[in-house]
Amino acid sequence: MAKSLFGLLTVAVAVSASDTCAAQAPAAPYVGDTSGCGKYHLPIVNGIDDTITSAGLKRTYNIHRPSDYDSNKQYGLIVTYPGTTETGIEFELDTKLDLSTPNHLVAYANGVGNNWAGANYSHATPDQDLTFTRDLLDDVRKNYCIDSSKIYATGISNGGGFVGLLACNDTVGGEFAAFAPVAGAFFTPLTDPGLNSTCTPARPVTPMLEFHGVLDDQVAYNGGLGDGGPLPSIPTWLSWWATRNSCDPSFGTEQIANGKVQHLSWTCNGKAGVVQHYKIDLHKHDWPSTIEDFSAIAEGDTPSEINASDIIPAFFEQYYRPT
Ligand SMILES: *[C@@H]1O[C@H](CO)[C@@H](O)[C@H](O)[C@H]1NC(C)=O
Ligand SMILES: *[C@@H]1O[C@H](CO)[C@@H](O)[C@H](O)[C@H]1NC(C)=O
Ligand SMILES: *[C@@H]1O[C@H](CO)[C@@H](O)[C@H](O)[C@H]1NC(C)=O
Ligand SMILES: *[C@@H]1O[C@H](CO)[C@@H](O)[C@H](O)[C@H]1NC(C)=O
Repeated sequence: MAKSLFGLLTVAVAVSASDTCAAQAPAAPYVGDTSGCGKYHLPIVNGIDDTITSAGLKRTYNIHRPSDYDSNKQYGLIVTYPGTTETGIEFELDTKLDLSTPNHLVAYANGVGNNWAGANYSHATPDQDLTFTRDLLDDVRKNYCIDSSKIYATGISNGGGFVGLLACNDTVGGEFAAFAPVAGAFFTPLTDPGLNSTCTPARPVTPMLEFHGVLDDQVAYNGGLGDGGPLPSIPTWLSWWATRNSCDPSFGTEQIANGKVQHLSWTCNGKAGVVQHYKIDLHKHDWPSTIEDFSAIAEGDTPSEINASDIIPAFFEQYYRPT
Protein backbone atom coordinates (compact mmCIF):
# COMPACT_ATOMS: atom_id res chain seq x y z
CA MET A 1 0.00 0.00 0.00
CA ALA A 2 2.51 2.57 1.15
CA LYS A 3 4.95 1.23 -1.42
CA SER A 4 2.68 1.71 -4.44
CA LEU A 5 1.61 5.15 -3.27
CA PHE A 6 5.24 6.16 -3.04
CA GLY A 7 5.92 4.80 -6.53
CA LEU A 8 2.99 6.77 -7.96
CA LEU A 9 4.16 9.97 -6.31
CA THR A 10 7.63 9.56 -7.76
CA VAL A 11 6.25 8.93 -11.23
CA ALA A 12 3.88 11.91 -10.95
CA VAL A 13 6.75 14.23 -10.02
CA ALA A 14 8.87 12.89 -12.88
CA VAL A 15 6.10 13.41 -15.45
CA SER A 16 5.24 16.94 -14.38
CA ALA A 17 8.91 17.89 -14.38
CA SER A 18 9.40 16.74 -17.97
CA ASP A 19 6.12 18.35 -19.09
CA THR A 20 6.92 21.78 -17.77
CA CYS A 21 10.67 22.10 -18.29
CA ALA A 22 12.57 23.06 -21.39
CA ALA A 23 14.65 20.51 -23.26
CA GLN A 24 17.86 21.57 -21.49
CA ALA A 25 16.45 20.95 -18.02
CA PRO A 26 18.22 18.17 -16.08
CA ALA A 27 16.77 14.75 -16.82
CA ALA A 28 14.34 13.47 -14.22
CA PRO A 29 15.92 11.07 -11.72
CA TYR A 30 15.81 7.40 -12.50
CA VAL A 31 12.98 5.49 -10.84
CA GLY A 32 14.15 1.95 -10.17
CA ASP A 33 12.70 -1.06 -8.39
CA THR A 34 10.94 0.03 -5.16
CA SER A 35 9.54 -3.42 -4.33
CA GLY A 36 11.65 -3.49 -1.14
CA CYS A 37 9.71 -0.56 0.32
CA GLY A 38 7.37 -1.41 3.18
CA LYS A 39 9.17 -4.67 4.05
CA TYR A 40 9.63 -5.51 7.72
CA HIS A 41 13.15 -6.02 9.09
CA LEU A 42 14.36 -7.21 12.45
CA PRO A 43 15.50 -4.19 14.50
CA ILE A 44 19.22 -4.79 13.99
CA VAL A 45 21.25 -2.40 11.88
CA ASN A 46 23.90 -4.81 10.67
CA GLY A 47 22.70 -7.69 8.53
CA ILE A 48 24.25 -11.11 8.86
CA ASP A 49 25.85 -12.19 5.58
CA ASP A 50 23.39 -11.77 2.74
CA THR A 51 24.08 -14.56 0.29
CA ILE A 52 23.12 -14.58 -3.37
CA THR A 53 24.00 -16.81 -6.29
CA SER A 54 25.48 -14.77 -9.10
CA ALA A 55 27.15 -15.92 -12.34
CA GLY A 56 27.19 -19.44 -10.87
CA LEU A 57 29.02 -18.36 -7.70
CA LYS A 58 27.88 -18.00 -4.10
CA ARG A 59 28.45 -14.33 -3.24
CA THR A 60 27.98 -12.40 0.00
CA TYR A 61 27.58 -8.87 1.25
CA ASN A 62 26.58 -7.20 4.52
CA ILE A 63 23.98 -4.48 4.53
CA HIS A 64 24.05 -1.68 7.09
CA ARG A 65 20.98 0.47 7.51
CA PRO A 66 20.40 3.61 9.59
CA SER A 67 19.21 2.91 13.15
CA ASP A 68 16.01 4.88 12.42
CA TYR A 69 15.44 3.13 9.06
CA ASP A 70 11.85 3.71 7.89
CA SER A 71 10.80 1.11 5.33
CA ASN A 72 8.40 3.57 3.68
CA LYS A 73 11.09 6.15 2.95
CA GLN A 74 13.55 5.79 0.04
CA TYR A 75 17.25 5.81 0.87
CA GLY A 76 20.42 6.21 -1.16
CA LEU A 77 22.78 3.22 -1.29
CA ILE A 78 26.59 3.11 -1.15
CA VAL A 79 28.24 -0.11 -2.35
CA THR A 80 31.77 -0.68 -1.04
CA TYR A 81 34.65 -2.79 -2.37
CA PRO A 82 37.40 -3.62 0.17
CA GLY A 83 41.07 -4.12 -0.70
CA THR A 84 42.79 -7.45 -1.35
CA THR A 85 42.54 -9.87 1.63
CA GLU A 86 40.05 -7.53 3.32
CA THR A 87 36.40 -8.46 4.01
CA GLY A 88 33.42 -6.13 3.80
CA ILE A 89 33.07 -6.12 7.59
CA GLU A 90 36.74 -5.21 8.01
CA PHE A 91 36.26 -2.34 5.55
CA GLU A 92 33.25 -1.20 7.61
CA LEU A 93 35.26 -1.24 10.85
CA ASP A 94 38.19 0.56 9.23
CA THR A 95 36.27 3.32 7.44
CA LYS A 96 33.31 3.72 9.86
CA LEU A 97 31.45 4.88 6.78
CA ASP A 98 28.07 4.19 8.43
CA LEU A 99 28.62 6.95 10.98
CA SER A 100 28.93 9.65 8.31
CA THR A 101 26.11 8.38 6.07
CA PRO A 102 22.90 8.49 8.17
CA ASN A 103 20.75 8.92 5.04
CA HIS A 104 22.13 5.96 3.13
CA LEU A 105 22.23 2.22 3.36
CA VAL A 106 25.69 0.76 2.87
CA ALA A 107 26.25 -2.61 1.19
CA TYR A 108 29.67 -3.97 2.19
CA ALA A 109 30.47 -6.40 -0.64
CA ASN A 110 32.85 -9.36 -0.36
CA GLY A 111 35.13 -10.38 -3.24
CA VAL A 112 35.75 -13.96 -4.38
CA GLY A 113 38.87 -14.99 -2.43
CA ASN A 114 38.68 -11.48 -0.94
CA ASN A 115 39.76 -9.65 -4.05
CA TRP A 116 38.23 -8.03 -7.13
CA ALA A 117 38.51 -8.38 -10.89
CA GLY A 118 41.09 -6.33 -12.72
CA ALA A 119 44.38 -7.57 -11.21
CA ASN A 120 46.40 -10.50 -12.54
CA TYR A 121 45.81 -12.23 -9.15
CA SER A 122 42.01 -11.77 -9.18
CA HIS A 123 39.83 -14.82 -8.59
CA ALA A 124 36.79 -13.44 -10.44
CA THR A 125 36.54 -12.14 -14.00
CA PRO A 126 35.28 -8.61 -14.72
CA ASP A 127 32.02 -10.11 -15.97
CA GLN A 128 31.56 -12.09 -12.73
CA ASP A 129 32.17 -9.08 -10.49
CA LEU A 130 30.05 -6.76 -12.63
CA THR A 131 27.25 -9.34 -12.69
CA PHE A 132 27.58 -9.72 -8.89
CA THR A 133 27.25 -5.95 -8.55
CA ARG A 134 24.07 -5.97 -10.67
CA ASP A 135 22.64 -8.94 -8.70
CA LEU A 136 23.55 -7.28 -5.38
CA LEU A 137 21.67 -4.13 -6.44
CA ASP A 138 18.64 -6.22 -7.46
CA ASP A 139 18.73 -8.06 -4.11
CA VAL A 140 19.05 -4.88 -2.03
CA ARG A 141 16.25 -3.15 -3.97
CA LYS A 142 13.93 -6.13 -3.44
CA ASN A 143 14.54 -6.08 0.31
CA TYR A 144 15.05 -2.42 1.23
CA CYS A 145 13.49 0.86 0.18
CA ILE A 146 16.06 2.28 -2.24
CA ASP A 147 16.12 5.48 -4.27
CA SER A 148 17.76 4.12 -7.44
CA SER A 149 18.86 7.58 -8.54
CA LYS A 150 21.17 7.70 -5.49
CA ILE A 151 23.44 4.66 -5.81
CA TYR A 152 27.19 5.18 -5.37
CA ALA A 153 30.42 3.14 -5.25
CA THR A 154 33.58 3.44 -3.19
CA GLY A 155 36.45 1.10 -2.39
CA ILE A 156 40.15 0.91 -1.55
CA SER A 157 43.20 -0.38 -3.42
CA ASN A 158 42.21 -3.40 -5.61
CA GLY A 159 38.59 -2.59 -4.62
CA GLY A 160 39.18 1.04 -5.65
CA GLY A 161 40.51 -0.24 -8.97
CA PHE A 162 37.31 -2.24 -9.40
CA VAL A 163 35.33 0.98 -8.82
CA GLY A 164 37.25 2.35 -11.84
CA LEU A 165 36.34 -0.74 -13.88
CA LEU A 166 32.70 -0.33 -12.85
CA ALA A 167 32.69 3.33 -13.91
CA CYS A 168 33.92 2.21 -17.35
CA ASN A 169 30.95 -0.15 -17.82
CA ASP A 170 27.85 1.24 -19.48
CA THR A 171 25.15 -1.06 -18.10
CA VAL A 172 26.09 -2.08 -14.54
CA GLY A 173 28.21 1.04 -14.03
CA GLY A 174 25.30 3.08 -15.37
CA GLU A 175 23.32 2.14 -12.24
CA PHE A 176 25.65 4.39 -10.22
CA ALA A 177 25.48 8.17 -9.93
CA ALA A 178 29.07 8.78 -8.74
CA PHE A 179 32.29 6.94 -7.88
CA ALA A 180 34.99 7.45 -5.21
CA PRO A 181 38.02 5.13 -5.27
CA VAL A 182 40.66 5.44 -2.50
CA ALA A 183 44.29 4.46 -3.21
CA GLY A 184 42.92 2.90 -6.38
CA ALA A 185 44.92 0.18 -8.14
CA PHE A 186 43.85 0.94 -11.72
CA PHE A 187 45.70 -1.92 -13.41
CA THR A 188 45.69 -0.80 -17.03
CA PRO A 189 45.05 -4.10 -18.85
CA LEU A 190 41.59 -4.53 -17.30
CA THR A 191 40.64 -2.06 -14.59
CA ASP A 192 40.98 1.14 -16.57
CA PRO A 193 42.67 0.61 -19.91
CA GLY A 194 42.86 4.31 -20.64
CA LEU A 195 41.56 6.43 -23.47
CA ASN A 196 40.87 4.96 -26.90
CA SER A 197 39.92 1.74 -25.23
CA THR A 198 37.04 -0.30 -23.96
CA CYS A 199 36.16 2.20 -21.24
CA THR A 200 32.55 3.04 -22.13
CA PRO A 201 30.84 4.98 -19.31
CA ALA A 202 27.04 5.10 -19.40
CA ARG A 203 26.76 8.88 -19.64
CA PRO A 204 28.82 11.79 -20.98
CA VAL A 205 29.66 12.91 -17.43
CA THR A 206 30.84 10.49 -14.73
CA PRO A 207 31.42 12.13 -11.30
CA MET A 208 34.72 10.80 -9.96
CA LEU A 209 36.64 11.48 -6.71
CA GLU A 210 40.01 9.85 -5.92
CA PHE A 211 42.25 9.98 -2.83
CA HIS A 212 45.91 8.94 -2.97
CA GLY A 213 48.93 9.13 -0.67
CA VAL A 214 52.21 10.22 -2.22
CA LEU A 215 54.01 7.78 0.12
CA ASP A 216 51.89 4.85 -1.11
CA ASP A 217 54.42 2.08 -1.78
CA GLN A 218 51.85 -0.49 -2.97
CA VAL A 219 49.97 1.52 -5.58
CA ALA A 220 52.58 4.14 -6.43
CA TYR A 221 51.37 7.68 -7.05
CA ASN A 222 53.60 7.85 -10.11
CA GLY A 223 52.53 4.46 -11.45
CA GLY A 224 54.78 1.68 -12.69
CA LEU A 225 54.57 -2.07 -12.24
CA GLY A 226 52.15 -2.92 -9.43
CA ASP A 227 51.64 -6.31 -7.81
CA GLY A 228 48.69 -7.02 -10.13
CA GLY A 229 49.92 -5.48 -13.38
CA PRO A 230 50.98 -2.11 -14.84
CA LEU A 231 49.58 0.99 -13.14
CA PRO A 232 49.08 4.46 -14.63
CA SER A 233 50.31 7.43 -12.61
CA ILE A 234 47.44 9.03 -10.70
CA PRO A 235 47.75 12.34 -12.66
CA THR A 236 47.51 10.34 -15.91
CA TRP A 237 44.47 8.42 -14.66
CA LEU A 238 42.81 11.69 -13.59
CA SER A 239 43.53 13.20 -17.02
CA TRP A 240 41.66 10.27 -18.63
CA TRP A 241 38.54 11.06 -16.61
CA ALA A 242 38.94 14.78 -17.30
CA THR A 243 39.05 13.99 -21.04
CA ARG A 244 36.12 11.54 -20.93
CA ASN A 245 34.07 14.10 -18.99
CA SER A 246 34.95 17.01 -21.31
CA CYS A 247 36.41 18.96 -18.38
CA ASP A 248 38.15 22.32 -18.79
CA PRO A 249 41.89 21.67 -19.33
CA SER A 250 42.95 23.64 -16.26
CA PHE A 251 41.92 22.53 -12.79
CA GLY A 252 41.75 24.32 -9.44
CA THR A 253 44.09 23.47 -6.56
CA GLU A 254 43.13 24.16 -2.94
CA GLN A 255 45.84 23.81 -0.29
CA ILE A 256 44.71 22.07 2.90
CA ALA A 257 46.72 21.75 6.14
CA ASN A 258 49.47 24.13 4.96
CA GLY A 259 49.76 22.37 1.63
CA LYS A 260 50.21 18.85 3.06
CA VAL A 261 47.01 17.97 1.21
CA GLN A 262 46.20 19.31 -2.23
CA HIS A 263 42.60 19.24 -3.37
CA LEU A 264 42.34 19.26 -7.17
CA SER A 265 39.01 20.02 -8.82
CA TRP A 266 37.94 20.04 -12.46
CA THR A 267 35.00 21.85 -14.06
CA CYS A 268 33.30 19.63 -16.61
CA ASN A 269 30.51 20.64 -18.98
CA GLY A 270 30.10 23.81 -16.89
CA LYS A 271 29.74 22.00 -13.56
CA ALA A 272 32.46 22.52 -10.95
CA GLY A 273 33.98 19.57 -9.08
CA VAL A 274 32.81 16.70 -11.30
CA VAL A 275 36.33 15.25 -11.11
CA GLN A 276 38.15 15.74 -7.80
CA HIS A 277 41.33 14.44 -6.23
CA TYR A 278 42.99 14.64 -2.81
CA LYS A 279 46.77 14.29 -3.09
CA ILE A 280 48.01 13.58 0.45
CA ASP A 281 51.76 14.14 0.75
CA LEU A 282 52.58 12.15 3.89
CA HIS A 283 50.01 9.40 3.42
CA LYS A 284 50.65 5.71 2.69
CA HIS A 285 48.39 2.93 1.40
CA ASP A 286 45.45 3.25 3.80
CA TRP A 287 42.09 4.95 4.33
CA PRO A 288 42.53 8.69 5.09
CA SER A 289 41.27 9.47 8.59
CA THR A 290 42.25 12.05 11.21
CA ILE A 291 41.88 9.31 13.83
CA GLU A 292 44.32 6.42 13.37
CA ASP A 293 42.30 3.65 11.74
CA PHE A 294 43.12 -0.06 11.39
CA SER A 295 44.50 0.29 7.85
CA ALA A 296 46.88 3.07 9.01
CA ILE A 297 48.12 0.88 11.87
CA ALA A 298 48.65 -2.02 9.45
CA GLU A 299 50.65 0.27 7.13
CA GLY A 300 52.69 1.86 9.92
CA ASP A 301 51.07 5.16 8.95
CA THR A 302 50.06 8.13 11.11
CA PRO A 303 46.63 9.81 11.05
CA SER A 304 45.86 11.92 8.00
CA GLU A 305 44.76 15.57 7.80
CA ILE A 306 41.40 14.66 6.24
CA ASN A 307 38.58 12.15 6.71
CA ALA A 308 37.68 10.35 3.48
CA SER A 309 34.56 8.98 5.21
CA ASP A 310 33.21 12.54 5.60
CA ILE A 311 34.28 13.84 2.18
CA ILE A 312 32.97 10.90 0.13
CA PRO A 313 29.27 11.02 1.22
CA ALA A 314 29.27 14.83 0.81
CA PHE A 315 30.55 14.38 -2.76
CA PHE A 316 28.00 11.64 -3.51
CA GLU A 317 25.06 13.69 -2.22
CA GLN A 318 25.58 16.25 -4.99
CA TYR A 319 24.76 13.70 -7.70
CA TYR A 320 21.83 11.61 -8.76
CA ARG A 321 21.49 9.26 -11.66
CA PRO A 322 19.41 10.81 -14.45
CA THR A 323 16.84 8.76 -16.35
C1 LIG B 1 29.11 -4.20 -18.87
O1 LIG B 1 29.08 -5.32 -17.99
C2 LIG B 1 28.13 -6.32 -18.33
C3 LIG B 1 28.24 -7.40 -17.26
O2 LIG B 1 29.51 -7.98 -17.28
C4 LIG B 1 28.43 -6.85 -19.72
O3 LIG B 1 27.42 -7.77 -20.10
C5 LIG B 1 28.50 -5.70 -20.73
O4 LIG B 1 28.88 -6.20 -21.99
C6 LIG B 1 29.50 -4.66 -20.26
N1 LIG B 1 29.52 -3.54 -21.19
C7 LIG B 1 30.55 -3.35 -22.02
C8 LIG B 1 30.40 -2.20 -22.98
O5 LIG B 1 31.55 -4.04 -22.02
C1 LIG C 1 42.36 9.01 -28.30
O1 LIG C 1 41.20 9.65 -27.72
C2 LIG C 1 41.34 11.05 -27.64
C3 LIG C 1 40.16 11.59 -26.85
O2 LIG C 1 38.96 11.01 -27.30
C4 LIG C 1 41.47 11.63 -29.05
O3 LIG C 1 41.60 13.03 -28.99
C5 LIG C 1 42.69 11.03 -29.73
O4 LIG C 1 42.76 11.46 -31.07
C6 LIG C 1 42.64 9.51 -29.71
N1 LIG C 1 43.91 8.98 -30.18
C7 LIG C 1 43.98 7.97 -31.04
C8 LIG C 1 45.36 7.49 -31.36
O5 LIG C 1 42.99 7.44 -31.53
C1 LIG D 1 51.34 -9.73 -12.07
O1 LIG D 1 52.03 -8.62 -12.65
C2 LIG D 1 53.22 -8.25 -11.98
C3 LIG D 1 53.80 -7.04 -12.71
O2 LIG D 1 52.99 -5.93 -12.59
C4 LIG D 1 54.21 -9.40 -12.02
O3 LIG D 1 55.36 -9.04 -11.26
C5 LIG D 1 53.58 -10.64 -11.42
O4 LIG D 1 54.45 -11.74 -11.58
C6 LIG D 1 52.27 -10.95 -12.14
N1 LIG D 1 51.64 -12.09 -11.47
C7 LIG D 1 50.98 -13.03 -12.14
C8 LIG D 1 50.35 -14.09 -11.30
O5 LIG D 1 50.90 -13.04 -13.36
C1 LIG E 1 37.35 13.36 11.33
O1 LIG E 1 36.38 12.52 11.95
C2 LIG E 1 36.55 12.39 13.36
C3 LIG E 1 35.55 11.36 13.84
O2 LIG E 1 34.26 11.71 13.45
C4 LIG E 1 36.38 13.76 14.02
O3 LIG E 1 36.63 13.65 15.40
C5 LIG E 1 37.38 14.73 13.39
O4 LIG E 1 37.16 16.03 13.89
C6 LIG E 1 37.26 14.77 11.88
N1 LIG E 1 38.33 15.60 11.32
C7 LIG E 1 38.10 16.57 10.45
C8 LIG E 1 39.32 17.30 9.94
O5 LIG E 1 36.98 16.85 10.05
